[in-house]
Amino acid sequence: SIDISTLTKQTGYTALDQGFVNTASTRSAITFIDGDKGILRYRGYAIEDVAKNSTFLEVAWLLIYGELPSASELAEFDERIRRHTLLHEDLRRFFDALPHNAHPMSVLSSAVSALSTYYEDSLDVHDPEQVEISTIRLLAKLPVIAAYAHKKSLGQAFLYPDNSLSFVDNFLKLNFGTMAEPFEVNPVLTKALDRLLILHEDHEQNASTSTVRLVGSTEANIFASVSAGINALYGPLHGGANEAVLRMLSEIQDSGEGVKKFVERVKNKEDGIRLMGFGHRVYKSFDPRAKLVKESADEVLESLGVQDPLLDIAKELEQVALADDYFIERKLYPNVDFYTGVIYKAMGFPTRMFTVLFAIGRLPGWIANWREMNEDPRTKIGRPQQLFTGSPARDWPSR
Ligand code: ACO
Repeated sequence: SIDISTLTKQTGYTALDQGFVNTASTRSAITFIDGDKGILRYRGYAIEDVAKNSTFLEVAWLLIYGELPSASELAEFDERIRRHTLLHEDLRRFFDALPHNAHPMSVLSSAVSALSTYYEDSLDVHDPEQVEISTIRLLAKLPVIAAYAHKKSLGQAFLYPDNSLSFVDNFLKLNFGTMAEPFEVNPVLTKALDRLLILHEDHEQNASTSTVRLVGSTEANIFASVSAGINALYGPLHGGANEAVLRMLSEIQDSGEGVKKFVERVKNKEDGIRLMGFGHRVYKSFDPRAKLVKESADEVLESLGVQDPLLDIAKELEQVALADDYFIERKLYPNVDFYTGVIYKAMGFPTRMFTVLFAIGRLPGWIANWREMNEDPRTKIGRPQQLFTGSPARDWPSR
């Protein structure tokens, strides 16, 4: 690899790399990807092992602190997060100011941005203790904010967090519990959601993580940086793809046009449509997360007793696309988002909550990257160059 900044100084040339296809913006020790071989590792551990053996909070610790926690470290981490789940009452009322049909991703980024107004005591990026307490606050409060965004869209009362429950069960209760009836934990849902969250926890320098780093490189606080990351995740070419996949599957079902015809329209680039949930900038043989999610889709739907024709459409789409030269030549395979929507739907989440679930999953990766950037003395403010294509200097017209 070449250090472009040194080369630029030596030669005076500027490298143009639209979309950062071949430019590393940072060194990182957190996540490793080999896109040709379909390998993903968190801190050296294969994603398949992590997903099988761990829990969301344990992986969050691994990503943020670099090693697996001891049993007591994990218990203390879990306990600290439980103690910080409550939102300030004024922040609960903040939701009243937003329209009930607001997209939950906009609600999420706004409320996370607002966190920095409540916690001015922990915004100093140079104080490790303040960074630590902000980390805990974010991990504890993001799921609560997300669930309130969901409840608001339903017009239902917000529940207070139940800190006797695990991280995932608390989140499920805040989303699906009501004031009227006691909440029953469903271990199938708990396990499935925990696994999906693990699979989303980090993915090196994707668009949202790069955004978190770029904003953080200005020494903006972690709430501001994560809020920016949430906005970057919102787009349909990134995290918003899980929502777009479900809409695509429903449209195929409703139109009755059939999978093959739809794929033909994609290949002809009719109206610029893409096969959502397919293709990846880095993975060129398969996305290992997609394989694991597909296994979960069958398991979860079966254990919940849900039969969803959209899952059959998704499987047929995958089969047709993987046998087609258009997709083979361009190395387009299902990505992590292809099957997640079907599972989230079976769990009872509305489509507009799908990307919010991705954001909760990705939070530890954003925090780990922000902290790695913040602790690295080589970090410089992110400031890309441009190649100017406008008018040369000209005289102001006399009028
Ligand atoms: N459907 C149809 N054609 C596609 C697709 C797709 N999903 N993805 C890429 N292509 C085609 C492009 O049209 C292009 O074809 P061309 O050479 O004939 O012009 C070629 O494949 C290369 O595509 P690029 O857009 O250059 O690939 P890039 O690496 O920039 O984009 C991306 C990657 C954004 C993920 C793209 O594959 C895509 O739009 N996929 C659908 C959205 C999606 O699922 N996003 C989630 C990604 S995973 C994540 O963020 C969690």
